[in-house]
Amino acid sequence: MLVLCLGAALSLRAAEPAATLTLHADQPGAVINRNIYGQFAEHLGTCIYGGIWVGEDSSIPNTRGIRNDVIAALKQLHVPALRWPGGCFADEYHWKDGIGPREKRPAMINTHWGGVVENNHFGTHEFFDLCELIGTDAYVCGNVGSGTVQEMMEWVEYMTSNADSPMANLRRANGHKEAWKVKYLAVGNESWGCGGNMRPEYYADEFRRYNTFVKNYPGNKIYRVAGGSNGDDVAWTEALMANAGKQMDGLSLHNYTLPTGNWKGSKGSATEFDEAAWFTTLKHTLQMEDLLKKHSAIMDKYDPEKRVGLVVDEWGTWYDATPGSNPGFLQQQNTMRDAVVAGLNLHLFQNHADRVSMTNIAQMINVLQAMILTDKDKMVLTPTYHVFEMYNVHQGATSLPVQLTTPDYVVGTEKIPAVSAAASRDAAGKVHLSLVNANPNTPITVSCTLAGLTAKTVTGRVLTSSAMQDRNTFAAPDAVKPQPFTGAKLDSGKLTLTLPAKSVLILTLE
Ligand code: AHR
Repeated sequence: MLVLCLGAALSLRAAEPAATLTLHADQPGAVINRNIYGQFAEHLGTCIYGGIWVGEDSSIPNTRGIRNDVIAALKQLHVPALRWPGGCFADEYHWKDGIGPREKRPAMINTHWGGVVENNHFGTHEFFDLCELIGTDAYVCGNVGSGTVQEMMEWVEYMTSNADSPMANLRRANGHKEAWKVKYLAVGNESWGCGGNMRPEYYADEFRRYNTFVKNYPGNKIYRVAGGSNGDDVAWTEALMANAGKQMDGLSLHNYTLPTGNWKGSKGSATEFDEAAWFTTLKHTLQMEDLLKKHSAIMDKYDPEKRVGLVVDEWGTWYDATPGSNPGFLQQQNTMRDAVVAGLNLHLFQNHADRVSMTNIAQMINVLQAMILTDKDKMVLTPTYHVFEMYNVHQGATSLPVQLTTPDYVVGTEKIPAVSAAASRDAAGKVHLSLVNANPNTPITVSCTLAGLTAKTVTGRVLTSSAMQDRNTFAAPDAVKPQPFTGAKLDSGKLTLTLPAKSVLILTLE
């Protein structure tokens, strides 16, 4: 009986697909810009109002109007940079409406997102307060589409100048003596679409004009991001690099993952999906690699020294809105599938760290592939949040090349690589290896050769779940959360482990 059981176990193990990996600790690569783990908060749906801002008089515990539970959760992510106020909203946002006493601020219609009335209670001061509370750098998106050069110029003065000047004095009059730091500023958003429907050559000139008046006041140096392409629009990148490559520090790229790949019809449900939709979602997300290569190749032509960073300041899953919710609020649930999407994308960004200087997942709270969902006083952390928290260790570390041979994950006649990996060495010398198993059905054995690394211990955490659709809800907030991983073994300099089906794993080797 015992022999039979052992035999069955052995034959099961023999049937498990296997991946091999060489982690090249001997070939350190680029430093992984912390900003790859950046976030994005737009005045859209309940991202700002309800998700972040509840107001000082709210019964929800808050600090100067910003909810405390959200602050505490975001602090754990070590958010490096926060993009605000949009998105499409940025090109209709007039910053002067969002300063001064709140009860006197004029309202506006948020025409892009549900046509709701925006009361401007969350403005420049509240944004910088949020940045300070969670310890992040500001990435401000300026209005090119419906704003003026003067407006952008004055906003920069208001935020960053300490002179005895009109805008700096207005800031002081509104209660903030010292200038803030604006590290990153985008000159418009999606100028090919909601930001003004411009042609690339026209926008390149507009970028040059607006950018001329974005001043570096003493003590503040701005990294200027030009609006880049929509997905694979390489002609846009070519025109921007040719006409404004010398003036910019970064060029953006927006790319969303839709299970169906179809913007016009149904995008697919966030929660009611089968394996075919799981597969196409991951397949579409992996197209990011092709985009990074295509846009980088054009950038290399104009900027071989890689001075200009590729800033993927909108990415993530985009499903049909939660049934019954306002479709203009882009509210969606987040499952184990989103965790895998996050892991795959973050690996791609890290493995292209020589060009990718920042990314901002869309969006931080209650919108699209969110970190956090809120409902009145309740808050839940999504599987995507957990991946960002687990991968924190890669921020600012030195990327280490990983040579990977992986089995395919096959569905019907199509396939994608089942395993994805990235590695880094942090300032303390610890090596971190993250792995994703995209196959929802089968664990995979991974045998790793550690080149140039003598590790004595390996520890880890894994995020996995029994069903692809598993998610955290207000009723069950901890259904999907990281667990200690003890399945990795070090033996004679080799690391072996079994990567559970549909999982995201982070290991630390010391
Ligand atoms: O993230 C939602 C929207 O998607 C942004 O406002 C816009 O820039 C993009 O089209």
